[in-house]
Amino acid sequence: MTMGLTGFFLISFLIVHAGINALIFYNDGGATFNKAAHFMGTNPLVRTIEIGLVAGILLHIIQSLLLWRSNSAARPVRYAMVKSIPKVAWYSKSMTLLGTLILMFLILHTSNFWIPNRTNQFLYGEELPLYIMMLQKFSNPLEVVIYLLGIASLFYHLLHGFSSAFQSLGLNHKKYNYMIRNSGWLFSIIICLTFAMMPLSILFKWIR
Ligand code: HEM
Repeated sequence: MTMGLTGFFLISFLIVHAGINALIFYNDGGATFNKAAHFMGTNPLVRTIEIGLVAGILLHIIQSLLLWRSNSAARPVRYAMVKSIPKVAWYSKSMTLLGTLILMFLILHTSNFWIPNRTNQFLYGEELPLYIMMLQKFSNPLEVVIYLLGIASLFYHLLHGFSSAFQSLGLNHKKYNYMIRNSGWLFSIIICLTFAMMPLSILFKWIR
């Protein structure tokens, strides 16, 4: 239940985050993006939801570790022979690893933008120029590669996680499973492609 509910909450965050950041594709020197970022960074309701977001991320991580521990405890002696079940995809069996990679990405990512921005707001009452910071960050190909790796981890995590969230909440049904799985694929592709296009468009100067 916890994994499913926090999963859905984090999925809704991704939609909002990708949607707002996609405003950079207006290619208007960041004018539209800056307006939206300013609203998100100063609106009291959004700032309150932000606390929920941090709590949601922490809860998702803690619950996944508890599950991982109870799974290991249920079988302290590993199977002598692991029969590879062809129907289970590698990413479904690697959710803890993919989640850890996403966590590493998040630590790096929040220390690039969110932490300095909120610190500056707290200390000096001023927001940082996020658009210019993005242009600077993604003019470095190494940073772009690191971000693309983070987004790739997110892609595979979502590929399993999206439909898994439905299953964890008992919202699956033989009749609809096919549709849920396909929606998961579509969602993962759209969200991750949108994110990936941001650093790439800046690196290749399609956006200035
Ligand atoms: C390459 C695409 C991305 C860009 C350009 C980007 C950009 C940003 C920026 C500028 C902020 C700071 C917002 C602020 O200070 O108000 C931010 C915050 C954040 N980003 Fe991203 N982001 C990207 C991808 C991602 C991905 C893939 C995830 C999740 C896996 C993610 C998770 C977060 C979180 C958790 C925050 C802090 C929470 C918040 O703003 O309320 N971002 N991002």
